[in-house]
Amino acid sequence: MKNIILKYIEEIHSTHIEDFKDRAAEVEAFRIRFLGRKGVMNELFEQFKALPNDQKKDVGQALNMLKQAAIEKVEEWKNFVEQSPVDVDKHDLTMPADFLAQGSRHVLSVTMNEIAEIFARIGFTVEESVEIEDDWHLFSALNFPHDHPARDMQDTFFVEKEEGKQEVALRTHTSSVQVRVMETHKPPIRIIAPGRVFRNEAISARAHCIFHQVEALYVDKKVTFADLKQTLLYFAKEMFGPDTKIRLRPSYFPFTEPSAEMDISCNICGGKGCNICKGTGWLEILGCGMVDPNVLEACGIDSHEYTGFALGMGVERMAMLKYQIRDLRLYFENDLRFLHQFDNII
Ligand code: DAH
Repeated sequence: MKNIILKYIEEIHSTHIEDFKDRAAEVEAFRIRFLGRKGVMNELFEQFKALPNDQKKDVGQALNMLKQAAIEKVEEWKNFVEQSPVDVDKHDLTMPADFLAQGSRHVLSVTMNEIAEIFARIGFTVEESVEIEDDWHLFSALNFPHDHPARDMQDTFFVEKEEGKQEVALRTHTSSVQVRVMETHKPPIRIIAPGRVFRNEAISARAHCIFHQVEALYVDKKVTFADLKQTLLYFAKEMFGPDTKIRLRPSYFPFTEPSAEMDISCNICGGKGCNICKGTGWLEILGCGMVDPNVLEACGIDSHEYTGFALGMGVERMAMLKYQIRDLRLYFENDLRFLHQFDNII
């Protein structure tokens, strides 16, 4: 019997984990074979009981050695299997790795970030606010007359429109953030407000019911139209290149007085005239003006002490002009052939 035991011990010592194909399963099979209820160890113990007493000491020692050897081996192999989770025998480690497609930022996010960075360099911080807005912040505080067409169902998605109650709508412009900021902050105020806006428009190459705007607002003592103009020139050159020229045309917005629209020299033909600028050499970029004193007062700011300028631009239009995108719908279709063209513009 002692010889049988010594043979088992030898077998245990000469078995290596490297010989196993399915490691975890084969270690378990080994454990069951030696240490299981009907395993080698228990069988030998049964035989051991029947041995004459004079052999018991010797064989008993060998049996203990066998048990010890089996336990240690199983322990050692289990640790090994746990620490090497990849079963190298089952995987061809020389195979090339799976290709993981890498995402990138959407061209509209990149454009908004760029606008934010340009304004950050001259001290503007970013403010964000709600997309579902009440009549006061969208229209009334911004000096919109009661019969203004923007208050009409045709232009605005209303969330609540009940007789005698304040109307609630998806914001039609980011100018509402001006009001929220002026109500809660004392001048000097120097913020931009990027965000999503919603209008009840039929979707086409040139219009969408969801789009993005960036608003800027500067309120302090002695802010003048000259400050506005210089800020606009700086922005246009940073955004569209150092040779960019600007021009201001008189316009009307309820919340600014005087109001203007800014054009930049066409960055595609350099001002000579092409089909993008419709032969004029100029591209319309944004609306702007001096904050109307009524707006300052509605927000609790003394219009005799403070003045300010505001401006607002469409992000889709900025990106269209910068990257020559012809159709607004492309932004929202998530066609990878379109999105991948902007992988490297971060
Ligand atoms: N809110 C205007 C719009 O959606 C854009 C605008 C024009 C914003 C003039 C301004 C501004 O701050 O001064 O068309």
